[in-house]
Amino acid sequence: MTALSQFNPLAPETVACPYPFYKAMREEAPVHQVPALGFFIVSRYEDAREVLGDAERFSSNSGPGVNGVLDPPDAELLAIQAEGWPAVNTLLTNDPPDHARYRGLVNKAFTPRRVAAMESSIRAIAAELLARFAGRGHAEIVSEFAVPLPLTVIADALGVSRGDLPTFKKWSDDSVAPLGGFLTRERQLACARSVVEFQKYFAARLDERRRHPQDDILTDLVNARLDGEKPLDTAEMLSILQQLLVAGNETTTNLIASGTMLLLQHPDQLSRVLADRSLIPGLVEEALRVESPVQGLFRMARIDTEVGGVRVPAGARLVVMYASANRDETVFPDAERFDVCREARGHLAFGYGTHFCLGSPLARMEAAVAFETLLDGTKNLRLAPGKNDLAHVPSFILRGLRQLHVEFDPV
Ligand code: HEM
Repeated sequence: MTALSQFNPLAPETVACPYPFYKAMREEAPVHQVPALGFFIVSRYEDAREVLGDAERFSSNSGPGVNGVLDPPDAELLAIQAEGWPAVNTLLTNDPPDHARYRGLVNKAFTPRRVAAMESSIRAIAAELLARFAGRGHAEIVSEFAVPLPLTVIADALGVSRGDLPTFKKWSDDSVAPLGGFLTRERQLACARSVVEFQKYFAARLDERRRHPQDDILTDLVNARLDGEKPLDTAEMLSILQQLLVAGNETTTNLIASGTMLLLQHPDQLSRVLADRSLIPGLVEEALRVESPVQGLFRMARIDTEVGGVRVPAGARLVVMYASANRDETVFPDAERFDVCREARGHLAFGYGTHFCLGSPLARMEAAVAFETLLDGTKNLRLAPGKNDLAHVPSFILRGLRQLHVEFDPV
């Protein structure tokens, strides 16, 4: 039995494979209060949906991640942040009714038309990345494919030039890093500096769009009117842009990498998909379910309440563990099994309710194109023997492979 009293979300064995812990929680303590850290983990599917679906009782404005090192922030951090624009609650950390005003605006900037129009360029980017290693017979999928694909797609969508991609990647990483683990003070300060650089860069781009509108997301934000009249201010627009980075980049990278890993670890499933490309959407959903890129996210109880029979006091923080809910046997029979043909769409990998992932159509399309491109452009794709430790980035919120070495016969 997995000793829950010993459970530490950031211990190396948890990062390596958290799933036995989640299973133990679902079976022994579905709403488990983590010793020392104090927050509750909601591990069952129905309880997760109850929390996500009830913004009256559970707020998304739940304070900092698991970090807390600079909480309350120190003087140097405040000085760095003062050079930029203040953080505003717009999407992820906002609650109804205010959240709906922003979400409505951003939905307009992320219309199905705009996402559909991105498909051909996503295919072109994926093909270009593949061409760089196709003749070589081997590749490191994370850095050569899964990172640059979503990064280039969102950079293009936001009008960032290809030459600025490495800087853009750094900003993306540094925006995400404070979410998931314990960072040193120096690293937190560096992340704050990156956020300010990001803000200055995009504030200038937004000014350009005010002068010279284009058919793009930045121009949509500049033209957006809250409640039909008030334009978004720069801090609000920067908050939204930063969330597109935080929420959209590393998550999609991790989906592409883990989906490839799962497929190569399960030759029977690989054969099925090779024989029938119409299974690719099923592969995308199953990879999201089995290796959820966002393992869980925080909420805060607004009132004294109860979840799954456990008393949760007002002010307590909860992590809704999507990754555990997605392996709940009562919803997904034989849940630990990876099966591209199963009905996985009810998974919670994109959340549920008010904050349901804005970018899910884009992420699904990028992952499907990535898998199709890889399978069509290689022959006998396989894990490179002896090269893969399958280590994951140390985070308790995001799950991502560090590297994935593959081999193949060039076509
Ligand atoms: C596999 C890839 C992705 C995964 C697993 C994922 C996961 C999630 C999850 C779980 C949430 C809900 C957060 C909550 O309940 O508090 C969310 C929200 C969000 N996602 Fe995604 N996401 C992905 C890709 C994207 C992409 C590509 C974008 C945009 C370019 C994006 C933008 C957003 C935004 C803006 C929100 C906040 C929505 C709101 O608060 O109303 N995501 N995502």
